[in-house]
Amino acid sequence: MLLPGDGIGPEVTYAARDVLQAVGENFGHTFGFEEGLIGGISIDSTGEALTRETLEACRNADAVLLGAVGGPKWDDPGAEVRPEQGLLALRSELALYANLRPARSYPQLLDSSPLKPDRIADVDLLIVRELTGGVYFGMPRGREIDPDRGEKAVDTMVYWDYEVQRVVDLAFQIARGRKKRVTSIDKANILETSRLWRTVAVQVAEKYPDVELEHQLVDSAAMRLISDPRSFDVIVTENLFGDILADEAAVLAGSLGMLPSASLGDHKPGLYEPVHGSAPDIAGKGIANPIGAILSAAMLLRHSLQLDEEARGIERAVEACLGMGLRTADLGGDPPVGTGSLVEAVINRLSH
Ligand code: IPM
Ligand code: MG
Repeated sequence: MLLPGDGIGPEVTYAARDVLQAVGENFGHTFGFEEGLIGGISIDSTGEALTRETLEACRNADAVLLGAVGGPKWDDPGAEVRPEQGLLALRSELALYANLRPARSYPQLLDSSPLKPDRIADVDLLIVRELTGGVYFGMPRGREIDPDRGEKAVDTMVYWDYEVQRVVDLAFQIARGRKKRVTSIDKANILETSRLWRTVAVQVAEKYPDVELEHQLVDSAAMRLISDPRSFDVIVTENLFGDILADEAAVLAGSLGMLPSASLGDHKPGLYEPVHGSAPDIAGKGIANPIGAILSAAMLLRHSLQLDEEARGIERAVEACLGMGLRTADLGGDPPVGTGSLVEAVINRLSH
């Protein structure tokens, strides 16, 4: 199921679809695509950010590939319906509690990052972000006017033990196939939810004696992510911290445009989307970096369709294109390559 969404969403989603189609031809699979509305474009034509129709079509799909949602057109803080609500509703309705955001540095792109190349060489980490709990969904929330005191706004951060348990457990399972190190990031010196998080993380760790667990407070972890990123393997953290740290980690990869993500629950379908947003300033210009979406398609093949070799094929083709010096504008391409030419190059490299 394709949900192109807003801004550069359609450009990068169709780029990823074209790559999937080419993978199908090379490896002898036939992928069927359906398309639906989400976000601002859905609000414009239906009044809702996620319709029942789109949701049902997603439920019936093997996997969902999403572009991006949001833009200035729908940004009025007083608006009743917001594009982002569509994405949150989709994550929640499909019970996608774990969001995997791998961030690695590419030897070909060390100079594209504003960080010193020797700091970011050989970075290979995975952020496992809790996706259906915490302050994103906690109740009560809202605004209230008190004639005497002024206006008040409330958000609530809530976690149940089982919500922590299942996502931390997944992080440990994944760590077993990597360097066997889990860093659980919280704010346990301040937040009750973080103290529960830590207790549960320790309980889960008992099942995985071969995997090392460390805890770190989110403020110092944010600093370490920049100063010593190689020291991380798997990071597991709550929803809002994961949202923030993932964008920070994107700097290690050279650009936010490089990062893919997979959102998984206990059942299909999984949801795959680039970490970047709708980038309205460059929408429709054909210059967006499609790599985040293309690598998300690779994650889709791996996690939803168990086509690991095909996923590796896409990743290798992307690396080859970077090796050839192809760079979109966000990566400082001089001259920059456009979205379409980069997709064509990736597709060409697939058959090598
Ligand atoms: C992300 C985005 C979303 C989030 C927005 C668009 C709702 O920033 O996927 O990281 O906050 O989760
Ligand atoms: Mg974000």
